[in-house]
Amino acid sequence: MSNLGRIVGPIAVIAALALAGAAQAQTAPGTQQQLIQQQQQRRVEQPLNNAPVWKEVRSGRPQFTSIPGRETNVLIQSSGQTWRALRDGPITQYGGWLLVIVVLAIAGFYFVRGQIKLHGAPTGRMIERFGGFDRVAHWSTAITFCVMAVTGLIILFGKLVLLPVIGYTLFAWLAALSKNLHNFVGPLFILSLLATIVAFVRDNLPQAADLKWIATAGGMFGGREVPSGRFNAGEKGWFWIGVVILGIAMSVTGLIMLFPNFDQTRATMQLANIVHGIGAALFVALGLGHIYMGTLGVQGAYQAMRTGYVDETWAKEHHQLWHDDIKSGKIQAKTEEGALAQMQRQH
Ligand code: HEM
Repeated sequence: MSNLGRIVGPIAVIAALALAGAAQAQTAPGTQQQLIQQQQQRRVEQPLNNAPVWKEVRSGRPQFTSIPGRETNVLIQSSGQTWRALRDGPITQYGGWLLVIVVLAIAGFYFVRGQIKLHGAPTGRMIERFGGFDRVAHWSTAITFCVMAVTGLIILFGKLVLLPVIGYTLFAWLAALSKNLHNFVGPLFILSLLATIVAFVRDNLPQAADLKWIATAGGMFGGREVPSGRFNAGEKGWFWIGVVILGIAMSVTGLIMLFPNFDQTRATMQLANIVHGIGAALFVALGLGHIYMGTLGVQGAYQAMRTGYVDETWAKEHHQLWHDDIKSGKIQAKTEEGALAQMQRQH
């Protein structure tokens, strides 16, 4: 070997080793190297069954990609399978049965108890129960709620319940319509809901009289109706648990799903969907109870929200404390005569 060879030889070996080391450090630190070895070995030992490759893909660990963006370097997000199992399993099953049971319970209550009617004769003297803002807020929430409930239930249960009955052509059309209505009416529902909370929060604050109402379920199953303020404890329960808690939960989770452009991860959207699904079943179940009491269940309740006025007898029988406060002048409420006189003065 020449002198030159004697010098260049070891340098080349050292350089090659250094380069190999650097490459290794860049691509395969520790466990990564082991994984690669496992995968290569499995390809030889059990071709077509490369579990280590799939284990790594399913690990959700970020890999390399040239596509920029949140989570584009995660090939398969395994918790998506857990999400699907929850949505298509317990949420659909328990949610569905809950709604069936609530409908049957309401029908049973109606046949056993019947409509809650007025006992005394109407006086003809009317008291204003809901002003213009109250009614606009209530009815816009009620209408958008029904649209959200029907379209949401079609999205959740349609494939299971409707598709086998109406077939692909009709169901595809109905599902697309429901999805678009749900997306566009959602923000209107949120605005109406906020207006409803503002309109009714003050008279839904807890009072001592609510405890007695709760203890006897308001006397709904017989006996005298327990005296209450403008709203009784049952109505307050619907307001706080339904309108406020579930309403806001549905709005927040709905917005997370509706606007995926805020860089939220798939896991966040899956969680939002699960909370939205559970919330929907509870909200619709409570909503059915509220709709029943506001229409068939209590004579005069629907008219109150439609016209804004109730008869004095109605006020006394259903909300005695509120009626007494109006009579004593503690609460200023318009009477129909008063409203007419005011209108005449203005013209
Ligand atoms: C009364 C209130 C609401 C009810 C009862 C309701 C009900 C539902 C139901 C049952 C689903 C189907 C869930 C599934 O298939 O996994 C759903 C999906 C959805 N909801 Fe709602 N929802 C309500 C309010 C809202 C609001 C306020 C928004 C948005 C502002 C919203 C946005 C969405 C979105 C984006 C989806 C996903 C639809 C899809 O699968 O592509 N929802 N809703």
